[in-house]
Amino acid sequence: MKHIKYRFSNSFTDFYFAYGISHLKKIAEPKATILVTDENIFDAHIKRFKGWNTIVLKPGEEFKIQSTADSVIEQLIEFEADRKTTLVGVGGGVITDITGYVASVYMRGIRFGFIPTSLLALVDASIGGKNGIDVGVYKNMVGIIRQPSFILHDMVFLNSLPQKEWENGFAEIIKHACIKDSSMFDELERMTLKKYQQKKTDICKLVQRNASIKAKVVQQDEFEKDERRLLNFGHTLGHALENQYGLMHGQAVAIGMTYACQISKQFTGFNQTERVINVIERYGLPTYSTFDKQKAFDVLRMDKKRERKDMNYVLLERIGRAIVQPIPMHSLEKILSAL
Ligand SMILES: NC(=O)c1ccc[n+]([C@@H]2O[C@H](COP(=O)([O-])OP(=O)(O)OC[C@H]3O[C@@H](n4cnc5c(N)ncnc54)[C@H](O)[C@@H]3O)[C@@H](O)[C@H]2O)c1
Ligand SMILES: [Zn+2]
Repeated sequence: MKHIKYRFSNSFTDFYFAYGISHLKKIAEPKATILVTDENIFDAHIKRFKGWNTIVLKPGEEFKIQSTADSVIEQLIEFEADRKTTLVGVGGGVITDITGYVASVYMRGIRFGFIPTSLLALVDASIGGKNGIDVGVYKNMVGIIRQPSFILHDMVFLNSLPQKEWENGFAEIIKHACIKDSSMFDELERMTLKKYQQKKTDICKLVQRNASIKAKVVQQDEFEKDERRLLNFGHTLGHALENQYGLMHGQAVAIGMTYACQISKQFTGFNQTERVINVIERYGLPTYSTFDKQKAFDVLRMDKKRERKDMNYVLLERIGRAIVQPIPMHSLEKILSAL
């Protein structure tokens, strides 16, 4: 158990690493708190929700949309939630995104916190205050940046996490290693997913290390002017492929990282693509894939990271060190279609 307070530009987030949901009543008064979760998590951990007002949503990215947010708002009104209510998202990234988004607009903003239950949400989605929903094929097109007041880790939730979701989470862990932490990259090369699943202390340490990487990057640049953009490594192309091909987020990011390594070679002389590919495969994720380049490019054009004629692409200089490289859209189209 470890409690760390991270300071952001105008708020704090309390991180409770490896605490357990029983600690929640100490930070959120049960009568004035409403949990939001999805059916998978609720069904697998029904006892843990006992004594808490809970809104249970249908699981899946396809429900990370405005109509789901509207239904949460309607249920909040039924619960007579007011400005003193705390909303707690207990789930994967879909649940934390929706919860943070609704909490930011309900009555112009109420207190919220997260209990991330997927590996991806533990190391990434729950951290940094980006809360939003998808619109059509455009991921996270609508949303807000607002920090949760707490993030509590209960590692027991991971017992029911499907294998595919473990792999999904490792995509973001590999991303963090690539852009920020070469010694963690070495560890990933030595370890396997199975070993992490078998040893509680190893997975706890890994989760905490990754959560801290993300929190520190966000601390430096909450509103994504420079440093935070590095977290988009693998995500530019990844997002374009994710909804179009019905890929899991982690799978799409893994493919995106593979191509970003290739593009890096052309701009920074990065020469460790093989190592990155080996690690991606080691954790059960895809690398090179066939996809409709033109279609992907059409979605890229709408990407939020595009500024005028250039696309800001995150590239690797070496493992553990990333840069943001503006690439003219017309060059990117050429590079992509040649790969
Ligand atoms: N806000 C951010 O900064 C940020 C960062 C990264 C990703 N995201 C978002 O996060 C989402 C992806 O997150 P995700 O992969 O956690 O998605 P998710 O919430 O859909 O969870 C994945 C699946 O695992 C199930 N699940 C989660 N925890 C479980 C558990 N403990 N036991 C059994 N089943 C469990 C869910 O029901 C779901 O079916 C995407 O929408 C992505 O855009 C947001
Ligand atoms: Zn991601």
